[in-house]
Amino acid sequence: MDSINHSRNKLLRLFPAPLEPVALEGLYLNQELHRLGTRSQPFVYTNFIASLDGRISLEHPRKRTRIVPDTIANPRDWRLFQELAAQADALLTSGRYIRQLAQNVAQDILPVSEKPEYADLIQWRQSQGLAPQPAIVVISASLNIPIPEILLNANRPIYVATGSEADPLRVQELKAKGIQVIVAGKGLRVQGKTLIAALGQEGFTTLYAIAGPEVLKTLLADQSLNRLYLTHALRILGGESFDTLLEGERLNPVADFNLHSLYYDTAAEGEPSQVFAIYEPAANAAKISS
Ligand SMILES: NC(=O)c1ccc[n+]([C@@H]2O[C@H](COP(=O)([O-])OP(=O)(O)OC[C@H]3O[C@@H](n4cnc5c(N)ncnc54)[C@H](OP(=O)(O)O)[C@@H]3O)[C@@H](O)[C@H]2O)c1
Repeated sequence: MDSINHSRNKLLRLFPAPLEPVALEGLYLNQELHRLGTRSQPFVYTNFIASLDGRISLEHPRKRTRIVPDTIANPRDWRLFQELAAQADALLTSGRYIRQLAQNVAQDILPVSEKPEYADLIQWRQSQGLAPQPAIVVISASLNIPIPEILLNANRPIYVATGSEADPLRVQELKAKGIQVIVAGKGLRVQGKTLIAALGQEGFTTLYAIAGPEVLKTLLADQSLNRLYLTHALRILGGESFDTLLEGERLNPVADFNLHSLYYDTAAEGEPSQVFAIYEPAANAAKISS
């Protein structure tokens, strides 16, 4: 990702009032998410960028996998993604993302980026007494996760979270590589509440889910998400093979949110305008009757 254009660092805060220009850099870092959780109740947040027609990914033109479209990914949203990562004790990622990393089609190595434009974030972690990089938690049922050497050698703790009936041979193989395996659910699947409680016991208080629709569903189904950061690139993409925020069965109860804040980022030439929205779960989610 190119560095952001500092001459247009400003965006417009639409909510809460008053309406006023605010700086992009520091926008999410200043929220001090690392102070909101405890070991008994870690603070859990996630982030997506979507097109106006709700696509979070489209089919890669050559590889048989879906990735975030480069028609919506952009350095300004990426800066905020990095600011969210900078505040985390651990990143929750997916088995599928690790397979994409191994295939060389993943969006990037896991944050916080060590590129010069994000050096302030690495320094910020240091100044707050946080580990140099967040730990990595790979959520997987299959345990078909070829963790690349670059991650194994990155000097950051790696965990795999899986269900109690996961393949014991694969569990052994992971442990032999120094990876810690957390059993966080019955059967093959990980359950949101069990996972978050187990990570709290590991001493983590601030958890950033950077995976996709299945992990989001795992968290929402267990009322385990505290904040949703959602960027809408104001562009319609179409396309037949895509992912959207949530897939599969309807949630019951449904997940309601309140608006925490909203920012408008006007377009640079050739790029879409975008809105950065932050949502918090509402307590009064309704059960669906049909
Ligand atoms: N636009 C955006 O902001 C954005 C953000 C994130 C992702 N995406 C897109 O979303 C798509 C899916 O991403 P993703 O695969 O990283 O995320 P995902 O749909 O959340 O995760 C899928 C994988 O995670 C594992 N998994 C998820 N929930 C699980 C559970 N409860 N128990 C056990 N395993 C579980 C499974 O791994 P195993 O198969 O190993 O069992 C599954 O294949 C991709 O196309 C990605 O590009 C877009």
